[in-house]
Order: sequence, then C-alpha cells, then structure tokens
Amino acid sequence: MNAPPLTLRPIRTRDADDYHEIFGNPEVCRYDDFSPITQEESIQDIVRIIDAYARNDKNTERAIIQTGEDKMIGVFTVLCGRKYRYIGYHFKQTCWGRGYATAIVRLYLASLQPKTRSLIRARVDSRNAPSIRVLEKCGFQRGRSRLLENRTREYVYHFRGTPSR
Ligand SMILES: CC(C)(COP(=O)(O)OP(=O)(O)OC[C@H]1O[C@@H](n2cnc3c(N)ncnc32)[C@H](O)[C@@H]1OP(=O)(O)O)[C@@H](O)C(=O)NCCC(=O)NCCS
Repeated sequence: MNAPPLTLRPIRTRDADDYHEIFGNPEVCRYDDFSPITQEESIQDIVRIIDAYARNDKNTERAIIQTGEDKMIGVFTVLCGRKYRYIGYHFKQTCWGRGYATAIVRLYLASLQPKTRSLIRARVDSRNAPSIRVLEKCGFQRGRSRLLENRTREYVYHFRGTPSR
C-alpha cells in the first residue's frame, strides 16, 4: 500500500486535542503499559515533551503529519537505552490500515546512518499483530521475548535491514 508522504515535526501546545484523541483512546493504548490519559494529562505530557526539546533530550516524541499539512495524525517516539534506541508509533484510530505506520518507520530508518540503524529496536506485545506486521515489513526480526508481570508477553524486535514490500 502506498501511504501519502509523511513528515515528522515537533509537537506543539496546539496539538493537545489530537494528542488526546490518540492517547486517550483505550483501543490505541490497548497493548501499552499505561492507561488512556485524560485531556489534562495530555496537556501535561505536551509541556513535558516541549521541555525535553529545550533540554535536547535524546528521548523524543514527535508529531507525524501528512506532508504539507499541519494536523497531527500520530506520534513517533524514540527512547534511548544504554545501547539501543527503542521506537514506538501510535496513530489516531481513524488513520489505521492506510500504510502510515510502515511509511513512518521506513522514513525514520532512512534518516539514520547504517551504524545507528543497527541499534534500533522495538518492544511489542505478542498480541499486537498489526504492529508486528509493520516491523517485519520494515526489516525487523524477532529477538528475545519475556513474560511481563501482567502475564502478557513482550517481543523485542531488532532491525536487520531486509525490508519486504
Ligand atoms: C499498530 C499501528 C501503529 C499500525 O498502524 P497502521 O498505519 O495501521 O499500519 P500499516 O497500515 O502500515 O500496516 C499494518 C499491517 O498490519 C496488517 N494487519 C492489520 N490488522 C492485522 C491483524 N489483526 N493481524 C495481522 N495483520 C494485521 C495490515 O494488513 C498491514 O499489513 P499489510 O500492509 O501487509 O496489509 C496502529 O494500529 C496503532 O496506532 N495502534 C495502536 C498503537 C500501537 O499498538 N502501537 C504499536 C506499539 S509497539
């Protein structure tokens, strides 16, 4: 599927409603380790994100937009561990199934030097079939898995660089 071109941009205060539409939706957070957030928490999160930009924090959340438009349709997250960088992506439910997640992961990977690209990982709930499909299409392979306290299983996916179509 050919998704329209996407762009990453900083998250701004005026994205609060879109941010809440994403992270306040129980379906979007279904496989996450947090509960859907309130409108108030969305605003607090955005303040924290903007503060992190000011501190040049390597852990970032950025807005995913359709190129040429301004409205946030998803959030792309990068969390830096001691050795690896973990990516995450969350889209408005109305935007699922259009190839957006595959497109943004590919865009992010293409922006990296090969050495950094090899350090990209993603943690995913074993039941999250769409996300697993996205990662496999983008050239990730399943590595170790672990059983979490809530009895769900988490897979760690490693970028291996042989994306499929
Ligand atoms: C997971 C998520 C990011 C996928 O976004 P998306 O833009 O719909 O993904 P894409 O359209 O690029 O690709 C989805 C793929 O999964 C497939 N898929 C969808 N539902 C599926 C299912 N139940 N079982 C297997 N594959 C499924 C789609 O057919 C597609 O594969 P294809 O291109 O081969 O047909 C989106 O559903 C989302 O935001 N979910 C909530 C947040 C989340 O779970 N994030 C991931 C945390 S690791």
